[in-house]
Amino acid sequence: MQYRILSEISEKDFDLFRSLIKKEVGISLRHSKKKMLGLKLSRRLQDLGLSSYFDYYHYILKPESVKELQCLVNIITIDQTSFFRGEKQFELLRERVLPELVQRKAEEKRIRIWSSGCSTGQEPYSLAMLVYEMDNVSISWDIKILATDANTQSLKIAYLGKYRADQVAEVPSDYLIKYFRKETSKGEEVFRIKKSLKQRLIFRRLNLLKSINQLKWPIGLIFCRNVMIYFDFATKKKIIDQFYNLLEPEGYLCLGLSESLLGIDDRFSLIERAIYRKKE
Ligand SMILES: C[S@@+](CC[C@H](N)C(=O)[O-])C[C@H]1O[C@@H](n2cnc3c(N)ncnc32)[C@H](O)[C@@H]1O
Repeated sequence: MQYRILSEISEKDFDLFRSLIKKEVGISLRHSKKKMLGLKLSRRLQDLGLSSYFDYYHYILKPESVKELQCLVNIITIDQTSFFRGEKQFELLRERVLPELVQRKAEEKRIRIWSSGCSTGQEPYSLAMLVYEMDNVSISWDIKILATDANTQSLKIAYLGKYRADQVAEVPSDYLIKYFRKETSKGEEVFRIKKSLKQRLIFRRLNLLKSINQLKWPIGLIFCRNVMIYFDFATKKKIIDQFYNLLEPEGYLCLGLSESLLGIDDRFSLIERAIYRKKE
């Protein structure tokens, strides 16, 4: 479809969408994102045959437009990710965090990990590979990695587990051989996650603002990296409190490298590199 350039989104319409987006997914859009939002929305409203941002806003709010609200979430969330993103954190996980966790679970042989805001799957698959590379962990262990996101489009890609060669550039070559199958798709070389790894992952749509309370498992390690960066203080505090309640005693919480719990919650101790341990 050929898209027309619509007139720029007005301040009033931008404020309407900004409030709606904050209420739905917690993202506080800065004013500098006004043009970008207008561009993203203009395509969608042309797909729907609507001619103004205001009409689109009211279309989304209709009770029968639940699906359109999901579409808006898919449009405005940022899916940037990569395998082993934040290499230093993965080093720390491999050298210290996972060995501690595995030791604690030596009898039970049961580990629960949650990648909240998993985007297109590179983060939970990286975690899964790392866990299976740990000494003393065998295929007989009961390991589940819950991978959730609010963006259903990203989740579809995550579930598919099929990546281009440039997307797997950060995967060590021995892991690539062990955990991926090389295929050709439409003349292009692609790498598909093997079933043996994929079956340890559970993919679900989960909006951190609305549905954390659906989770009942005690979790050993929660990843929430680069998800809450645009959330306000109160929202972060509430989500961290819910993470605290879900974590096992001495469970771990891993944030993005630029994120911190400073001034938000003191019931965690910082290990290093934005990885925290629940105090008791
Ligand atoms: C920048 S990506 C980070 C992906 C991965 N954690 C990483 O660090 O590579 C942020 C992800 O958070 C998701 N997200 C944003 N708001 C969310 C919310 N309220 N609930 C669940 N996921 C959310 C987005 O859809 C996106 O996939």
